[in-house]
Amino acid sequence: MMSKKIGVIVGSLRKESFNRKIAKILMALAPTGYEMEEVEIGHLAMYNQDLDDEGNPPAEWISFREYMKKFDAVLFVTPEYNRSVPAVLKNAIDVGSRPYGKSIWDSKPGAVVSVSPGGLSAFGANHHLRQSLVFVNIPTMQQPEAYIGNVATLFDDKGALVNEGTREFLQKFMSAFATWIDKNSISK
Ligand SMILES: Cc1cc2nc3c(=O)[nH]c(=O)nc-3n(C[C@H](O)[C@H](O)[C@H](O)COP(=O)(O)O)c2cc1C
Repeated sequence: MMSKKIGVIVGSLRKESFNRKIAKILMALAPTGYEMEEVEIGHLAMYNQDLDDEGNPPAEWISFREYMKKFDAVLFVTPEYNRSVPAVLKNAIDVGSRPYGKSIWDSKPGAVVSVSPGGLSAFGANHHLRQSLVFVNIPTMQQPEAYIGNVATLFDDKGALVNEGTREFLQKFMSAFATWIDKNSISK
């Protein structure tokens, strides 16, 4: 049987991003029958509807929209910027959602993980993101929710995850997401 593919979108461009570290662990925990791959979003020009209306969208919008078609599901791993979703991630959602009626997100099962060095675990970003995902019609896993707070304390000096409880939680999260994808996939 062919593997299902999960696109992973990280809302941070930072080299030493904690979100990317957590995303990499999640990818390593992909359940059997699932392949996970990070999709770059940092190169996408800020969305401007004129470029779509004039039939002249930037090449990277076209290739991002095309590339995302191969994924059966999408996992968002996001920090919180000023209690909301970082612009780079919101921009990727906006670019993928247009032209009107051709959204790449429609009906693709999704899940959200939010990550912060702070104690509030990027709750605000997690829920602002969910608001957009409702509108673009991504059936988003409700439980388990994933709020990874105090993230800097979970790694050692060499960048290895040292908190086994977190690893177990992330494993359970991925297993629940696989079930969610199976239940919510519509045949293409
Ligand atoms: C512009 C900006 C705004 C931020 N606002 C928040 C915030 O509202 N809540 C929070 O928990 N952390 C906030 N932070 C701190 C980030 O959580 C922290 O930089 C984190 O490491 C970003 O994720 P990353 O490690 O994946 O890049 C902010 C950081 C920046 C640069």
